[in-house]
Amino acid sequence: MRTGLIVGVIWVFLWPRLVHGGFVLQNVICESLDASYAEFKRCEMKVVRRGVASFYMLVKLHKLPINSVDVNVSLFKRSNGYRPFLFNQTVDYCYYMRNPQAHPLIYMLHKVLFKKTNMNHSCPFDHDLRVDDFTYDQNDLLDLPLPSGDYMLKILYASYKTWRISTKVYMKKN
Ligand SMILES: *[C@@H]1O[C@H](CO)[C@@H](O)[C@H](O)[C@H]1NC(C)=O
Ligand SMILES: *[C@@H]1O[C@H](CO)[C@@H](O)[C@H](O)[C@H]1NC(C)=O
Ligand SMILES: *[C@@H]1O[C@H](CO)[C@@H](O)[C@H](O)[C@H]1NC(C)=O
Repeated sequence: MRTGLIVGVIWVFLWPRLVHGGFVLQNVICESLDASYAEFKRCEMKVVRRGVASFYMLVKLHKLPINSVDVNVSLFKRSNGYRPFLFNQTVDYCYYMRNPQAHPLIYMLHKVLFKKTNMNHSCPFDHDLRVDDFTYDQNDLLDLPLPSGDYMLKILYASYKTWRISTKVYMKKN
């Protein structure tokens, strides 16, 4: 009875803190790890209005078409520097795009992150990579209950098993 009450009280106080207040995009750092392969023409976080930023990216790929892509997604949370938090996963992108539901966590991010890209397809890749005016909607990741704080989402892209591009997205959860 008492335990139930305490759990209830903790639930009532903690739950809104975990769930409410979405992410605010703050900054992005793009890096080509192999300039002969990939070149950033644009990588920009534009402030649209207070608390809302819009992300633009354009990557020129110099060796097309690409038939082997791996993507490594890892999340970091800041406390004395950025530390690995909750997940880091590498997926075979060409396979994944044919079976997205096979990786539920990546799929959840995919549904959110891919809404303004030209990358929502399987291999081969025979064009530049684009993100146009991506904004984070407050309700996008409600099913990912994270404590408030500063986060960094790091996405590494490999082709033919060599890392070529790194994107780090910095964001705050209120
Ligand atoms: C990623 O996970 C692997 C094991 O699953 C672990 O060895 C590695 O340290 C982790 N790295 C990061 C940056 O989280
Ligand atoms: C993903 O990349 C990180 C480096 O950012 C690395 O530490 C981690 O082990 C990689 N995860 C997997 C599953 O390969
Ligand atoms: C990606 O493509 C699939 C299949 O065409 C489509 O069902 C899905 O809605 C697309 N996702 C996004 C985020 O655009």
